[in-house]
Amino acid sequence: MYFILYIICIATCHCLIEKDEKNENHCGLLKQWLGSSSVSVEISKKGFHREVITTVELSPNVLSGVRVLLVYTWPRGVYIDPYQLASMRDQSDWQILIDSAIDLEVPAHKTSGFVSYVYPSPDGPTPRLLKVTIPIHGRYHEPSSDGELFTSVDIQPPELLLRTEKCLQFNNLEPHTVVDAPCTVNNSSMCPWVKIQSQQEHGPMSLQFPVGDRFLMIPVCGGTLLVTMICCVALSKYMWKHKII
Ligand SMILES: *[C@@H]1O[C@H](CO)[C@@H](O)[C@H](O)[C@H]1NC(C)=O
Ligand SMILES: *[C@@H]1O[C@H](CO)[C@@H](O)[C@H](O)[C@H]1NC(C)=O
Repeated sequence: MYFILYIICIATCHCLIEKDEKNENHCGLLKQWLGSSSVSVEISKKGFHREVITTVELSPNVLSGVRVLLVYTWPRGVYIDPYQLASMRDQSDWQILIDSAIDLEVPAHKTSGFVSYVYPSPDGPTPRLLKVTIPIHGRYHEPSSDGELFTSVDIQPPELLLRTEKCLQFNNLEPHTVVDAPCTVNNSSMCPWVKIQSQQEHGPMSLQFPVGDRFLMIPVCGGTLLVTMICCVALSKYMWKHKII
């Protein structure tokens, strides 16, 4: 009897130790990938409608089963159109979760920024090279009072977060940190993710959007009103003359 108990105990211990070693091993690998994974961003198109193109390059020896998450913190000067995203869903292989409702109409000074979570390859194995193109739109800005014709909006590059089921005990990942973020686009649970501290810090990218001039507002409004009135008078005269009424 004691002998059997002893065997069971040994077997359990052995299993536990083995599991621990495996975890350690995968965590060691995770640490290796972190250093050699990178993210870069560029912005294409002109005017109010732009595209933010993010390229993620994972380490060449990355294990299967790694999940990738890009966290974008957007300023109030731009918005993402949820309807446009919904119409793109069939063509794109990435998924997006936005932390607040987006009002497409309000001008920049009457709203606040928001955060979006982008899952570049939600199903299946994660390829080494990931590309995500997000359409963004400039908001109308409050007319300037100092004669500036453009206003600049800074776009921050996204944070790159990685996770794998195979390493759940994070310790000693310096300089990287562990943060909580939704596990999947459904936001049904939170998971610990490792936030990559990239070697070369990319600064924000500056976009220029046209703005109205406050001093031009009175002449422009006045002009519009005058033209409308002249047209009305002309039209009434015409109708009167030709006995349309
Ligand atoms: C996810 O869900 C939690 C709880 O329902 C909520 O507090 C949080 O704001 C959600 N996050 C996003 C990004 O929608
Ligand atoms: C999210 O939920 C939908 C159904 O509500 C399900 O079909 C889909 O697989 C879920 N996606 C993930 C990534 O969990």
